[in-house]
Amino acid sequence: MAGADYPARMSLDSSWETDWHIARACLEWQVEVGVVDAICDAPIDRYALDPAPAQRPALKPAAKPAPQPGAALPAASAAVDPVAEAEAMAAAAPDLAALEAALGSYPHCDLKLGARNLVFCDGRAGARVMIVGEAPGREEDQRGRPFVGEAGQLLDRMFAAIGMARDHPDHGQAVYITNILPWRPPQNRDPSPEERAMMRPFVLRHIELAAPDILVLMGRISAMTLLGTKDGITQIRGQWREVAGRPALPMLHPAYLLRNPVAKRETWADLLDLQARLRTTT
Ligand code: URA
Repeated sequence: MAGADYPARMSLDSSWETDWHIARACLEWQVEVGVVDAICDAPIDRYALDPAPAQRPALKPAAKPAPQPGAALPAASAAVDPVAEAEAMAAAAPDLAALEAALGSYPHCDLKLGARNLVFCDGRAGARVMIVGEAPGREEDQRGRPFVGEAGQLLDRMFAAIGMARDHPDHGQAVYITNILPWRPPQNRDPSPEERAMMRPFVLRHIELAAPDILVLMGRISAMTLLGTKDGITQIRGQWREVAGRPALPMLHPAYLLRNPVAKRETWADLLDLQARLRTTT
């Protein structure tokens, strides 16, 4: 977004520039709604600032070197393939710290521009269970950790009910958490198919490096991205699948459960199923 209407209180009047707090609140509000470009109150016609056409120096097309006889034809300018680049960068990361750094320097995902933090992971690396969520929300973006908002608190309670926690000292009862997207999408919109495709190689490498015994695909976006399915999460939740050679359990997202508390019954069944699978998986 390149600018948005200011709330009435924040209009740019003469008292505005004296109030630091209002200025800061206004800036935060703009970041919140996804503003990425600063523009002025009054439009500027930049064409009018340009010299009249007659005064402009004529642009000469750059001379192309004549092809040498027998020389190979120049390849069509190689278009950048963001997914291939993500695959190469992810594959080159030898450990989790390098993977986080690779994500930080990946140049093709514009969500990074509007995010405060890259949210990479939380919990215990080496945990038997790895949870893959969707994307950071407002609080996660502010704190740089996944699942720390209201949905995250419910997530912690869900896993506590089967004796598991992100900071559990025993790796058998600890969970490790990440998301499909490490940057918050503006206004928590769904990630686009292109954004999901770009981030998928990083998530697959993340799974490989964290090496959990079992994956939990938390919610529709996670299941869609890692299973390549268009089936709704309410249809596939509780059905064991495989991702990167590991058993993967799609579950209802805690944010969904906050809106539909009656669905907690199915989630409880999935948690018990997960607990039973952990007992039989080495
Ligand atoms: N929802 C998610 O899927 N991930 C988070 O980190 C927070 C909320």
